[in-house]
Amino acid sequence: MQDPIDTLMAEHRIIEKVLDAMELAAEREMPVSFYERALDFLSAFADGVHHAKEEAQLFPVLETHGIPREMGPIGVMCDEHVVGRAHVGRMREQLRLGRRGALCQESLEYVALLRQHIRKEDEVLFQMARQVIRGDDVRRLAGAFDEADGHKDPRAAYARVAEALLAEARTA
Ligand SMILES: [Fe+2]
Repeated sequence: MQDPIDTLMAEHRIIEKVLDAMELAAEREMPVSFYERALDFLSAFADGVHHAKEEAQLFPVLETHGIPREMGPIGVMCDEHVVGRAHVGRMREQLRLGRRGALCQESLEYVALLRQHIRKEDEVLFQMARQVIRGDDVRRLAGAFDEADGHKDPRAAYARVAEALLAEARTA
């Protein structure tokens, strides 16, 4: 059993590779396919795998331990997930319209949002989580994560996608 907070942190490291790739891409002439794959990664992994586990599994457990949602760290994290999804939606739109400059600008705003979001989770919220989630709660949350992931580890495949995007941006 992998510690559930370790699982979320490992997912952050994978997401950061794509943020690195997008930052490099903004300075280069990347093909449309790069952005299509990056946006699919963000929707499927950052949002569909990672934020989904935080929102549906982790945050409710933290609330039962007295960490507030309204006017508290959980509400802030959820609000930032919503803002991130809006950025991804606008990036898809800019890509569809072929507006490269606006796409790069939007992607850099997304990267800045996600970097500070991940830092707050790693350094504050997840440290609080480690303090309050103990014993059986750890095992229950790990089981819930496993179920949410469909009883398979989605990280290895998405890590390969992230590596490929970063390699492509580095060599462009
Ligand atoms: Fe996260």
